[in-house]
Amino acid sequence: MRKHALIGAILAGLALSVTAAAVPDQPIPDDALGLSKTSVYDDPAPEVVDYGAPDAGSSKRVPASYHTAPPMISHSVEGMVPITRETNMCRDCHVNPDLVGKKIDKGVPTPAPVSHYVNLKAGELYMGRYNCTQCHAPQANVKVLVESTFGAKPRRK
Ligand code: HEC
Ligand code: HEC
Repeated sequence: MRKHALIGAILAGLALSVTAAAVPDQPIPDDALGLSKTSVYDDPAPEVVDYGAPDAGSSKRVPASYHTAPPMISHSVEGMVPITRETNMCRDCHVNPDLVGKKIDKGVPTPAPVSHYVNLKAGELYMGRYNCTQCHAPQANVKVLVESTFGAKPRRK
């Protein structure tokens, strides 16, 4: 019995090494290493993207990717970025604690939610949220590098 098992193991090992030897080494060309179809040694300029979104006040809210996802910026951010220590236009329009939990009319900036304040009553923004575009991103209609079947869900409210 044992002898048979040993011979079997040796034969299986031989079969494996024969198959391995049959596949020649395949070098991967340097322009097939990443999503960008140019050589890894190139430094191509990124494609200029047209965000083309409507102005704030006339855009339509984007469906959320998942529950608790930071909502996408549905409007154009031209002239609003970069956010600096001195200017934060996002805050000027969206930090409105009096409106939190109220019904918002169309065209009125959605108030930043309660999670964004240190003290909602005092309207004190939590400074860890100061850089809004760290989490909220504008959207552009671009040719995607990899198709996705992920489905965005409408928000629960
Ligand atoms: C002039 C006022 C104004 C400014 C400045 C502004 N927004 Fe808005 N924002 C709005 C309005 C109004 C809406 C609601 C949709 C609409 O009517 O266009 C909105 C919608 C949004 C939404 C979608 C909210 C939701 O519930 O889907 C996000 C996120 C957002 N803005 C983030 C930002 C960020 C980040 C900035 C700064 C880069 C910014 N906004 C600057 C007025 C403004
Ligand atoms: C650290 C990430 C992060 C930063 C920074 C941040 N947000 Fe948010 N934001 C979120 C997430 C996550 C949500 C959705 C969940 C929630 O309610 O907290 C959200 C929700 C919102 C909403 C939608 C509220 C609603 O009722 O649907 C608005 C408007 C908003 N943020 C504005 C802002 C503004 C303006 C800033 C900058 C002053 C900012 N956010 C900074 C993560 C962030």
